[in-house]
Amino acid sequence: MSLIRRTARLRSLCLRGALFGAMFVATPLHAAAMTVYKTATCGCCSAWVDHVRDAGFEVQAIDVEQARLIEHKKEAGVDQRLSSCHTALIDGYVIEGHVPAADIRRLLEERPDVAGLAVPGMPTGSPGMEYGDRVDPYRVIAFGDEGGMRIFAEYGD
Ligand code: CU
Ligand code: CU
Repeated sequence: MSLIRRTARLRSLCLRGALFGAMFVATPLHAAAMTVYKTATCGCCSAWVDHVRDAGFEVQAIDVEQARLIEHKKEAGVDQRLSSCHTALIDGYVIEGHVPAADIRRLLEERPDVAGLAVPGMPTGSPGMEYGDRVDPYRVIAFGDEGGMRIFAEYGD
């Protein structure tokens, strides 16, 4: 094979790689990876991480001390009233607590001008907080940087 032909072949392989890369990035949902901060002993946090992974998200879970976790919440602008166990970051948004993966998907599709979503506390029946068939009423709150809050989704009776 001549040098020129070999170079051309290499180039076409690279091009194929680049196209494949572009297709991958264009895939809407799974493109952004999520980082989850939690404490090592939090069982419901791990269950929630499994929930979002099962829904197709790529998740990096990072165990931190409780004090550091509280700092992450402050840095992310999570109001104390919205606070839960874990704090996640994805594609410029904050996800606090047991937010269903479907709502995260909707957030990333609609891209509203909010800081993120939160499920305050740890309601029974939310993803990662399953207890039989019981689903206590809970809300997914969209919150802003300036303290604004609105209901993004509601679950339970
Ligand atoms: Cu929890
Ligand atoms: Cu958690």
